[in-house]
Amino acid sequence: MKILLTRRLHDFAVKELKKKYDVEIYTGMIPMPKKLLISKIKDKDGLICYPYDSIDADVINAGTKLKAISTYSVGYDHIDVKTATSRGIPVGYTPEVLTRATADMTMALMLSLFRRIPEGDKLIRNDKWNTIFGPYEFLGTDLYQKTLGIFGMGRIGKAVAKRAAGFEMNIIYHNRTRLSIKEEKKLGVKYVSLDNLFRTSDVVSIHSPHTPQTHEIVNLKLLKKMKKTSFLINTARGKIINEKDLAIALKRKIIAGAGLDVFQREPINSKHSIVKMNNSILTPHSGSATIETRKKMAEIAIRNLALSLSGRKPIYQVRL
Ligand code: DGY
Repeated sequence: MKILLTRRLHDFAVKELKKKYDVEIYTGMIPMPKKLLISKIKDKDGLICYPYDSIDADVINAGTKLKAISTYSVGYDHIDVKTATSRGIPVGYTPEVLTRATADMTMALMLSLFRRIPEGDKLIRNDKWNTIFGPYEFLGTDLYQKTLGIFGMGRIGKAVAKRAAGFEMNIIYHNRTRLSIKEEKKLGVKYVSLDNLFRTSDVVSIHSPHTPQTHEIVNLKLLKKMKKTSFLINTARGKIINEKDLAIALKRKIIAGAGLDVFQREPINSKHSIVKMNNSILTPHSGSATIETRKKMAEIAIRNLALSLSGRKPIYQVRL
């Protein structure tokens, strides 16, 4: 069977794939141009793709022999799952294994915002550390007893709640469906409306998938409901936030700051208004970027593909 990788995976994974399949790996500029993807998919039985590849109906339908799609990501908003499903093509993805790393990254952004860590680093490097330790020098805020609002209480949202509980934060959440009372108690979280979440949180953290319902749901109207002292964190998908509105909110100090790991267009350009704001802390979509996690993601991605190609269920299959 022939498979296509839109980018090289770990050596162990490529070696494993080559034992079983005729493997073609795209090595050009990322993302793979659509025209090329369409021409390469034509004779392939399997596809391993990345969250920046647009696997739309044109691509899927060009793959007349396609039997399996496996994405090296937990997010699958880049794949037309409906079209794949209608063609009987299972779509595998990699949840669970990246939950901890992404939740850790959320806490790292939160601490960076509350304790002004990048700002302090810059201060020293620019020779601007003039006043030594004092009552008003370089103050941040405690996480202790602050309210964290989690938007999207799936695996990653819950992992963030567990970590925030360790910092003794008050945790509220909003989700499409409410958790059971038992689970709410276990996690120590309280369900609130979206409006209430933005209005009362000291920090709102986004953990929902990007869907037509969540597309740019975080807009100026919602941001204006936040306290001037509050922060916004996004380690989910850039398209959940209207970036123009966020830039306005940051510029006009409608909110105190934002910690962003994901953007509408990646890599984000240094001229982008959000990048110009010094009350934003930015990381390059590295929520799951740990050695251990990325290796596990590769293991799952190749197993998902192999299982689907052998007519079995992938370990993790996207369900509509
Ligand atoms: C994913 O897997 O979808 C993440 O965005 C990668 O960190």
